[in-house]
Amino acid sequence: MIQNEIKGIIGKKGYGKTKLTEKEMIFTDKPTIILDPRFQYEENTRRIVFMSVSSFIAWITKRDNYKIFMQYKLELVVRAIDIEDAELLAQTVYKMKKICFVIDEIDMFFDTRTNKKSFFNQLVQYGRHNEIDIIYTCRRPANISRNLTALTDIFYFSRLTEPTDKKYVSDTVSKDAEDIVVNLEKFSFYRIEDEKKEIIKTTAKDLAILSA
Ligand SMILES: Nc1ncnc2c1ncn2[C@@H]1O[C@H](COP(=O)(O)OP(=O)(O)OP(=O)(O)O)[C@@H](O)[C@H]1O
Ligand SMILES: [Mg+2]
Repeated sequence: MIQNEIKGIIGKKGYGKTKLTEKEMIFTDKPTIILDPRFQYEENTRRIVFMSVSSFIAWITKRDNYKIFMQYKLELVVRAIDIEDAELLAQTVYKMKKICFVIDEIDMFFDTRTNKKSFFNQLVQYGRHNEIDIIYTCRRPANISRNLTALTDIFYFSRLTEPTDKKYVSDTVSKDAEDIVVNLEKFSFYRIEDEKKEIIKTTAKDLAILSA
């Protein structure tokens, strides 16, 4: 796997984006910070949940905590809904190195209108220098920033049916891709990485590994 990838997981509500994200996070094998606006990530043995960006910052700025986070490759879940809070989190992440940043429902924070100077934009543009992987999910691709689309290395699309979303797929990938995406079954994703295109399915076995 390349060192610093941006992966986008795009699809309808309840079609398995969060589950696939959890699986992808394990593959990155890096300490991970998760921006979780819909409170979908629950605590487990490797995961700590913070109810606000300020409580997360208070924790991570203690040197011992930061060391533990890096050493044990923890997953730190930060629950935030406000754009300002999310931007503060992006600013904090921007200072780090060799981590994975997961943004669930990215279009809540980072869309076609987001300021170019925002830390979200900086992370997407320059995060590679600090070996920051980004995994984002989104329900409607038409809402995401073109800056982000242009820099996404791997797309996972689940079934899309809205006309603007279908158009997005044919514009950014191809008409053939659009035809595949509209016919996908639930929990299947069309994975696109440059020339390599395949349909994958998260299976019951994957889910068992995740909940272990
Ligand atoms: N491959 C699968 N097989 C069976 N059930 C699955 C599979 N993947 C996910 N699920 C289940 O389907 C439900 C929805 O999955 P998930 O939360 O990952 O969807 P989502 O796309 O993130 O939804 P939302 O848009 O609401 O965030 C969950 O209860 C999850 O456990
Ligand atoms: Mg989800």
